[in-house]
Amino acid sequence: MRITILGSAAGGGFPQWNCNCRNCAGVRSGAVRAVPRTQSSIFVQGDEATDGVLFNASPDILEQIRSHPVLQPARAVRDTAIAGVVLMDGQIDHATGLFMLRERGTPLPLWCTDPVAEDLTEGNPVLRVLGHFCGVQRERIVPDGTAFAVPGAPGLSLRAFALSSKAAPYSPHREAPVPGDNIGLLIRDERSGRSAFYAPGLGEITPALFDVMAGADAVLVDGTFWTDDEMIGLGLSRKTARSIGHLPQSGPGAMIEWLDKLPAPTRRLLIHINNTNPILDEDSDERALLLQHRIEVCEDRMTITL
Ligand code: MLT
Ligand code: MN
Ligand code: ZN
Repeated sequence: MRITILGSAAGGGFPQWNCNCRNCAGVRSGAVRAVPRTQSSIFVQGDEATDGVLFNASPDILEQIRSHPVLQPARAVRDTAIAGVVLMDGQIDHATGLFMLRERGTPLPLWCTDPVAEDLTEGNPVLRVLGHFCGVQRERIVPDGTAFAVPGAPGLSLRAFALSSKAAPYSPHREAPVPGDNIGLLIRDERSGRSAFYAPGLGEITPALFDVMAGADAVLVDGTFWTDDEMIGLGLSRKTARSIGHLPQSGPGAMIEWLDKLPAPTRRLLIHINNTNPILDEDSDERALLLQHRIEVCEDRMTITL
């Protein structure tokens, strides 16, 4: 399978429009060696397939499609390689790009869990609004590990797992989580048997979830924050990383420790990186530490072939 990283930043992107943290100011001025990133989304194609699955619809989707000709195979006067969209949660950075797909000639095939469908119908009524344009052909994801497929995306089999992370602020479950607010996906190419685990928002790794990750050839997991108090330390928020559903990378019980326990051949990649995270600075000690742990930092336009 081929995974194309369309967007590797967390909500806000990098640099964020109103931010002058060290990273954002530094990437603008050139003082920090780092590359700009758009918001969180990947596109996955099975071996030799033209059409594939879009995971998340980022607010930056139009720019992402323009910079990836693979998403525009141009077989007809109106065409796309996006066979269907799968949502990992109902947050702004993963769902508002759906508005930009409104010119479709047929309803948009959209896979999401029930709680996400509810949030995108009530709190942030994207699905209702799209009903005035192309409409949505909504398919239910049950986050219990049952395999499903997206018709038109040949060779790919998907399995969703409920994660502990965070629903959007407009969700009635923001402070009372329900299974399916956030999911992780095991994406498998049926021909090669190769698989990837994708979880851009991941607040906690349970032993059962770790087993799923350990069975994948590559994991693309939450790279939002380096420390639990990153936003507090910078005076940008009063909330810890964990309290908004993101397991930080450093510290006891954090992401690096978990990734170290994966089987040696597993590729480990961080995605959904917040603009405050020091790992964005390619010359930082934190980035060097990741390298020692064989952990990669996703960049837009990267492709991962498994
Ligand atoms: C998050 O995952 O916490 C988000 O990126 C928040 C947002 O998009 O506003
Ligand atoms: Mn996010
Ligand atoms: Zn910033």
